[in-house]
Amino acid sequence: MSHEQEPAKIKSMFNSIARRYDFLNHFFSFNIDAMWRRRTVNAVATKTPELILDVAAGTMDLSVVFSRKFPEADVIALDFACEMLSGGLQKLKNRRVYPINGDGLALPFLDNTVDIVSIAFGIRNLESLDKGLREFYRVLKPGGTLLVLEFTPNRNPLFNLYSGIFMPLVGRLVSKDPDAYHYLHRSVKAFPPAGELKNRMENAGFSTVQYKKMTMGIAALHVGNKDKFK
Ligand SMILES: C[S@@+](CC[C@H](N)C(=O)[O-])C[C@H]1O[C@@H](n2cnc3c(N)ncnc32)[C@H](O)[C@@H]1O
Repeated sequence: MSHEQEPAKIKSMFNSIARRYDFLNHFFSFNIDAMWRRRTVNAVATKTPELILDVAAGTMDLSVVFSRKFPEADVIALDFACEMLSGGLQKLKNRRVYPINGDGLALPFLDNTVDIVSIAFGIRNLESLDKGLREFYRVLKPGGTLLVLEFTPNRNPLFNLYSGIFMPLVGRLVSKDPDAYHYLHRSVKAFPPAGELKNRMENAGFSTVQYKKMTMGIAALHVGNKDKFK
């Protein structure tokens, strides 16, 4: 089974669940997703970025954590589902977070212009993982960093019961989308394991790629760099 996805279906699914997305996210994860996002940003705590691009930003939770950590940086929150971005607008206040409607596979940025690219729970939804990784590499400055936060396929039977039965059932009732949380389960199962994602990042050009599994391997953070001299 391929993990790669049909963009039109994905876009309309996220537009349809946007209003309930934040609630369900925090509810299903017992708010652990907030900790995963903080860890993601802390992985680049020693940097002083000027431009951060949060791809597949959704309702912009990660974009806002970046902006708190780096208040002087401009954070571009890019997503192809407008309703997801609209759902997060009230979080922005006067922060330097700028939502834009765009495709993660065709970024509206010149080569070598971005200090940090992040993608949280979005890379699994791309039509082509490798194309996405090459596109992130293209826009990063030499010395820039890619952060990928994503679920990892999990064989734990309890977790599979939770994500394969409980989440789709509650997701269906609350979001009114019959398939969205089934899709989540299927797409995580079909996604490459952490070691393979690391290899794919290296194949796209990233160096010193490392990953850290979190919360019993439910999610993993991959960090890769674009070499300063190439
Ligand atoms: C599961 S949500 C994650 C949102 C957010 N990053 C978070 O951590 O909550 C996945 C997001 O990816 C977006 N997405 C999927 N494919 C995309 C693409 N090709 N270009 C831009 N956004 C995309 C969807 O619209 C959706 O908002």
